[in-house]
Amino acid sequence: MIPELSNPSVLMRDPQRVQEILESMVKAGSNTLQVISDFDMTLTRFAHNGKRCPTCHSILDNSKLISEDCKEKLAGLLNTYYPIEIDSSRTVEEKLPLMVEWWTKAHELLVAQKIRKDLLSVAVRESGAMLREGYQLFFDHLHKHSIPLLIFSAGIGDILEEVIHQAGVFHPNVKVFSNYMDFDESGVLKAFKGELIHVYNKREGALLNPGHFQELRTRRNVLLMGDSIGDLTMADGVQDMENILKIGFLNDKVEERKQPYLNSYDIVLIKDETLEVPNAILLYLTGIHLCWYRCCLSVCT
Ligand code: TMP
Ligand code: MG
Repeated sequence: MIPELSNPSVLMRDPQRVQEILESMVKAGSNTLQVISDFDMTLTRFAHNGKRCPTCHSILDNSKLISEDCKEKLAGLLNTYYPIEIDSSRTVEEKLPLMVEWWTKAHELLVAQKIRKDLLSVAVRESGAMLREGYQLFFDHLHKHSIPLLIFSAGIGDILEEVIHQAGVFHPNVKVFSNYMDFDESGVLKAFKGELIHVYNKREGALLNPGHFQELRTRRNVLLMGDSIGDLTMADGVQDMENILKIGFLNDKVEERKQPYLNSYDIVLIKDETLEVPNAILLYLTGIHLCWYRCCLSVCT
């Protein structure tokens, strides 16, 4: 049905079920669709030319805005807690308090650095942040078809907005739930706003925003994209859900995490640094095939 689903990076627990969900979504029409996506390592690349790409936090951590001493402490936290985040031998319940600990300590360190709001754009420009290949088509196509995109991130809202702004794809159909910085009157970071969002409490984050999902109550079909098991709860606030298709990027520790990912995501993309598969699905759901789209592009350009 969608040739890209036969790509070598694609694994599916139940391809027949994926087909049924897609058919049901096509029948319902793209005016019933909404997309909910994680940001770090889902919309952005995990690695490029064998080198890790930065998360929102590491864009800041590696920037000139942070002292050498603080960089060392933040790197220490990453080395301690990231292996716990992706450890498939621990339960989410076990990981929860440790994730709160990581985010709290990291945010305290960042606040102590007195980061200036007006320098964030430079930090992003000078970082190696990269959206996945195909991002332009992804964002532009959703915008063109007025399909709402919720970016739901445990990263830093100010940074992720700057990344998509600099890429020229922060369209009006995009809404962001994330951790936002709070600046004092002279534009210096003094705290983080609101309830903390970490990788394993996105369900609570979703339930704190009933107004958003109420506005989108006619959009009963959801395309969910994530790279963490915690991302599976991002759509928990959606009202009267009809269908949900979950796409999971499995970037790291592939062999030990393959089975849990296959059990919970409908489509698992193994070490795939592109948005080719989500784009092919989106085009299919809006009545276009990716290969036709490419042919049209090559004729027009
Ligand atoms: P996401 O929800 O957009 O994926 O963002 C969460 C990621 O941020 C998560 O995978 C871990 C990462 N992270 C860092 O890289 N450094 C940090 O200091 C913290 C707290 C999180
Ligand atoms: Mg992520």
